[in-house]
Amino acid sequence: MEKLIKTIEEKLYSYVPNIDTLEKKVFDSMKYSLSAGGKRIRPILTAYFCELNGGTLEQSLPFGCALEMIHTYSLVHDDLPCMDNDDLRRGKPSNHIVFGEDTALLAGDALQSLAFEVLSDSKTRDLVGDTACIKAVNCLAKRIGAVGMVGGQVIDLEYENKSADVTILRTMDDKKTGALISAACELGCIAANADDKAINDAVRYAKALGLAFQVVDDILDITADEKELGKHTGSDKENNKSTYVSLYGVEECKKLVSQLTEEAIGCVYGESESAQKLRELALSLAQRNK
Ligand code: FPP
Ligand code: MG
Repeated sequence: MEKLIKTIEEKLYSYVPNIDTLEKKVFDSMKYSLSAGGKRIRPILTAYFCELNGGTLEQSLPFGCALEMIHTYSLVHDDLPCMDNDDLRRGKPSNHIVFGEDTALLAGDALQSLAFEVLSDSKTRDLVGDTACIKAVNCLAKRIGAVGMVGGQVIDLEYENKSADVTILRTMDDKKTGALISAACELGCIAANADDKAINDAVRYAKALGLAFQVVDDILDITADEKELGKHTGSDKENNKSTYVSLYGVEECKKLVSQLTEEAIGCVYGESESAQKLRELALSLAQRNK
C-alpha cells in the first residue's frame, strides 16, 4: 500500500507545473492541498478496480489522480467560511487560512479543471483509448455535479441547524461522499475497458463502502483524537448537524458499519490479488482512526 501511495503521489504532483509566472500563487495553493497527505483512498480504489478487470496500475493512474484532484477541490471549498468554515484540514491550516479565501476558491476551481484536462489529454488517450476517456469524463462529470457530490453538499448545508431523518441523511451521504467513491471504482473499470456488468458490481461495492465510510466519518467526529484525525472533532454537533451518530448513537453506528462492510465485500468476486485487496480495503476502512 505504501508503495502504491508513493506511485500515486508522484504522478499526482507531476500534473502541477513548477512555474514562476504571475499566477504562481494559484499553483502554490493547489500544490499545498494536493500534497497535504490524504489517505489516497479514491485513486487506490481506481487502481484495484482497474487491475481486477485486467488493466494495469499505469492505466489507472491518470484517472485516479483526476479523482484525487476533485476530492481535494471539494475539501478546499468545504472548509471555506461560506461552507463549513474549518481552519484545519489534514493536520494543517486549511487552504484559505494560508492563501486567502479568494485564492482557495480559485485553486479549487483550477483543480476541477485540471482533473478533466488529465482525463482527456493525449497521453491518457494513448494509454486507455479515446472511448474510455470519453466515458470517464461523462461518468465523473455526472458523479460530482448537481445530481451527485455538489447536490449532496447542498443538502448538507440545507440541513445545518435543522434535523434530518434517516432517508434524508442517506440521500445526502450517497451523493456527498458516495458519488465520488463510486466514480473512483467506476473509473477503474473504465480504464480497463471493462463491461457494464463489471461496472454495476463496482457501483454496488462503492455504494456500500461509501456509506460505511461516511458513517465512520460521523463516528470519528465524536470519538477520534484531533491530532490523529487532522481536523477538528465535534464540528457536526457544533454546526447542529444530524448525523448517523446523532440518530442512532455510536454503538448502533458501529454495527451498521460492519453490515455495510460485509455488503461491500460480497460484491467482489474471485480470488485474484486485486479482489482480495478490495476486500481488505473495505475491512481496514471500517477500522480506520483517521
Ligand atoms: C473525507 O475524505 C471526506 C469526506 C468523507 C467527504 C465529505 C464531502 C465533501 C467535503 C463534499 C464537499 C463538496 C463540495 C462541492 C464543496 P477522506 O477521509 O478520504 O480524506 P483524506 O483525503 O484527507 O484522507
Ligand atoms: Mg461539509
